[in-house]
Amino acid sequence: MKRAIQFKLKNGKIVTIRRTRGYDYEAQMKFMEKFSKDPGAFNTWQYAGQPKKDKEKSIKMYESDDCLFVSVWDGNNIIAMGNIEKYRAGHPYSGRSAGVAVSVLQKYTHNGIGSKLLDIFEKWAHENNIHVLYAGVRHTNLASLGNCMKHGYEITGIKHDSAYINGEWIHEYILEKIIEK
Ligand SMILES: CC(C)(COP(=O)(O)OP(=O)(O)OC[C@H]1O[C@@H](n2cnc3c(N)ncnc32)[C@H](O)[C@@H]1OP(=O)(O)O)[C@@H](O)C(=O)NCCC(=O)NCCS
Repeated sequence: MKRAIQFKLKNGKIVTIRRTRGYDYEAQMKFMEKFSKDPGAFNTWQYAGQPKKDKEKSIKMYESDDCLFVSVWDGNNIIAMGNIEKYRAGHPYSGRSAGVAVSVLQKYTHNGIGSKLLDIFEKWAHENNIHVLYAGVRHTNLASLGNCMKHGYEITGIKHDSAYINGEWIHEYILEKIIEK
């Protein structure tokens, strides 16, 4: 992703979508803190009160050629983010797979952001010789399952009891999309 995109939401608002850079660290942390408390945060890895990510490691990741972090901005605030990351960059056997994840603040959902981010990640996957994309989604997360399936991902597996949240065991569906190249 070379340039920032001005993206029109379904509600008519214009937001900016661009690659997250090292200098976005503070804005990114602010978003993650907000998202971890968001009523729609159904990712299993975000939780209220989570520690701040290490600054040096985060900056290294944002700037790495082996992943693409993307942030969506409403003015000066990040309102959604997503990333695609090679699983074993440079590995001769398994270096051509990557995982995707998307997080949109509930207030901004149903406006086309999640779908646009998956498009951006698929383009990056093509440009980076990725052959297979994976996503892990809670079994109760119909929005994310719907978004992935709209983009051609298929459910190919399930991890039972992969997380224990609010007194309930949560399963995680494994979704994948093969890119024919
Ligand atoms: C899942 C999520 C990324 C979807 O983002 P979004 O910006 O609302 O998605 P979009 O508006 O681009 O919708 C894309 C598609 O997703 C599907 N979708 C969205 N909400 C849905 C819902 N509540 N039920 C079923 N399908 C839904 C639809 O197929 C939709 O396409 P359509 O508008 O043509 O019908 C967003 O709800 C989110 O971030 N949730 C919290 C975090 C999370 O669960 N992340 C995923 C784990 S990796």
